[in-house]
Amino acid sequence: SLDLNGASTGIKIQPTMYGIFFEDINFAADGGLYAELIKNRSFEFDEPLTGWKQPNTKTLSPNLDSGFLTIITDKSKSNRNYARITVWNDKNYLLENEGFRGIGLHQGEKYDLSFNLENVSGNISAINISLVDEKGTVVSSVSNIIKGGGWQKYNAVFNPSKTIEKAKLQITFTGKGVVNMDMISLFPQDTWRGRKGGLRKDLVQKLYDLQPGFLRFPGGCIVEGRTLAERYQWKKTIGKVEDRENLINKWNNGFAHRLTPDYWQSFGLGFFEYFQLAEDLGAEPLPILSCGMACQFNTAELVKMEDLNPYVQDALDLIEFANGDSHTKWGKIRAEMGHPQPFNMKFIGVGNEQWGADYIERYKVFEKAIHTKYPDIKIVSGSGPSPDGDFFDYGWKELKKLNAQIVDEHYYNSPEWFMKNAGRYDTYDRSGPKVFAGEYAAQSVGVVKPDNKNSWLTALSEAAFMTGLERNADVVTMTSYAPLFAHAEGWQWTPDLIWFNNLKSYATPNYYVQKLFSNNKGTEVLKITGNGKPVTGHDQLYATAVKDAKTRETIIKIVNTDAESKSVTINPESLKLGNRLTKITLTAPQLSTENSFENEPIQPKEETLSLKKGKVVVDIPSQSLVILKIN
Ligand code: AHR
Repeated sequence: SLDLNGASTGIKIQPTMYGIFFEDINFAADGGLYAELIKNRSFEFDEPLTGWKQPNTKTLSPNLDSGFLTIITDKSKSNRNYARITVWNDKNYLLENEGFRGIGLHQGEKYDLSFNLENVSGNISAINISLVDEKGTVVSSVSNIIKGGGWQKYNAVFNPSKTIEKAKLQITFTGKGVVNMDMISLFPQDTWRGRKGGLRKDLVQKLYDLQPGFLRFPGGCIVEGRTLAERYQWKKTIGKVEDRENLINKWNNGFAHRLTPDYWQSFGLGFFEYFQLAEDLGAEPLPILSCGMACQFNTAELVKMEDLNPYVQDALDLIEFANGDSHTKWGKIRAEMGHPQPFNMKFIGVGNEQWGADYIERYKVFEKAIHTKYPDIKIVSGSGPSPDGDFFDYGWKELKKLNAQIVDEHYYNSPEWFMKNAGRYDTYDRSGPKVFAGEYAAQSVGVVKPDNKNSWLTALSEAAFMTGLERNADVVTMTSYAPLFAHAEGWQWTPDLIWFNNLKSYATPNYYVQKLFSNNKGTEVLKITGNGKPVTGHDQLYATAVKDAKTRETIIKIVNTDAESKSVTINPESLKLGNRLTKITLTAPQLSTENSFENEPIQPKEETLSLKKGKVVVDIPSQSLVILKIN
C-alpha cells in the first residue's frame, strides 16, 4: 500500500518540466519536419548533383543525343551554385530528382512547385515537369511557358492522381537552347497551419499532442559541428530561404555502418522557424549556441579565448533577434520576417555536451556578457555526456562554484540503469543549480548500437526513471527524450521517439510515456511513500503524485516493472479525494513489443471508474505505467 499525503510539499512543477529536444539528425529537418520534397534543390551539396540524375546523358561533354548540366558557381553569394542546362535534343534530355529517399505524394493533395530560371540562349519555349511513380508512370504534370529577361520565378501546382511513397520529379524541355535553373522546390500545400514552404503537418501534430513545455533547438552535436567552421550559425539560417547558405550536416555519414553521404542542411527550417514552432506549440524556445568548441567526439577544435568574442556576440544578438523591438537591428529583421511581436525568449544554452576546463573558461565569458546585458535570461550550461564520469563531476563542481542556473545532463544507458537510477535526484544538492535532463533514452542493446529498439522495456524503464524526475521537480526543472525523430530509411541513431517515412509516422511506446507524463504533469508535487520511503523500485514499484491546481485533480503515476500484476491500495492522509477516477494504462503483451507503421499495439487505454470515498484500490497490471486521475 502507498500513502499519499495532501499537505503541501511546496515543490512546484515548472511548466517547462517536459519538453522537446529537436536536432537535425536522422533526417529530422531536411527530409522530415521541413516539408521540402526536393533534395539538394539549389545544387549546393559538395557533390552538386547529389539527388539529381540525367538518365539519358552519358557523358558530361556536349551530348548531341540529349543535353547536359554544368554547375556555375558565384562565390560572392551565400547560395553559390546554380545549374546551367544545355538542351541539344528536347525529345531525349531528362533531368530527374529522387527526393529524400523518394518523394512522398498523397492523392487528393496539392503540391506547390517553384523554380528560378534564366533563359540564356536558344529557343527553349517551355519547361515540362512531371511527378512519376516507382514505375515511371506520370501521376501529375505541369508546363511553364518560358519568358526572357533575366532570372524569373515560376510556379505551378501538382495534383497527383495517386498516393506514392517514392515518386520522382522529372524535368523535360520544349525546344533547344541553354537555361540556368536554381531553387527547384516542391512543397505540399497542406503543411502545418497551411504555411507556404512550411512544416510537415502530421509530424508537428505529434509534437503538439505532447503539450511540450519547451522546444530545445537546433541540437545536439550539430550545434558544435565537426569543426568550428561547420558549427551551426544561426545568423546564416534567417532571411530569405534562397539566400541561406547550405552546410554539410554533422551527421552526414553519421556512423560507418549507416552511411548517409547525402545529408546536408538547407536551413529552410532555421532559427525564425524554430521560434515560430515553439510559439505554435505553446513551448518556451530554448536555443543552444556554439561556445567555441567543436564536437568533442570529432576534432574538438577550440577557438582561442582572444577570438571568442564573435561567438559571444552571436548569443547577445540572438536575444535581440528574439526579444528586441523592431527598432533594434536584429529585432527589425525578425519583424521583417513576419513576426513584429517579440518571441519572449527566456532561456539560452551555451554549448552542448562540452566539458573540462576549456568549457568552464568559455562558459564564464558567455555568462558574464549575457547576464550583464540581459540579467533575466536563464542560461543552460553543459556537463558532458557521461553522468557517471570524472568530467561530469568536475563540471558540476565548477558550475556550482559559479552559481550556474541550469545544468544540462545527458544519459543514454541500459533499461536497468534507468530503473536503478529512479532515485538519482533524491540526494541532489537543493542549493545548487537546477537540472535539465536534456537528453536521455534507454538503449536496448548499447549506446549508438544500430540494433537498439524502441521496445516496451525501454519505455517502461524510462517511465520508472521519470517518476524520480517528477518527484524531484524542485531540482529537475526541464527534461527531454532524445533523439526526437528518425526517417525509417535514413537514420544514424536509434532509438528515437517518432519514426516516419515519406507518407506516415508512428509513435513509439517511449512517445506515449512522454505524452502521459507531460499531459498529466500537474502543478505541485505531493508526497507519496511506501513504508515511509519514496517509491523507487521496492517491490518493483515506482510512483509519483501531483496535484493540478487548474483541474483540481490529484494525479498519481505508478510504474510496475514486475512480471506480476499488483493490487495497490492508496491511503490518503490529510487529503480529500473525490469519487471519480480516470485510469490510464500503458502496457504491452511483452517487454520486446514495439510499435510500427502498420500497428501500434502499445497505446494508452483510458477507463473511468467510481471510487468509494476515501479508498483507492487499483490493479496495476504487470509491466505497466498507470496514471490515476482523481477528482
Ligand atoms: O541525440 C544524439 C546525440 O547524442 C546528440 O547530438 C548529442 O548531444 C549526444 O551525444
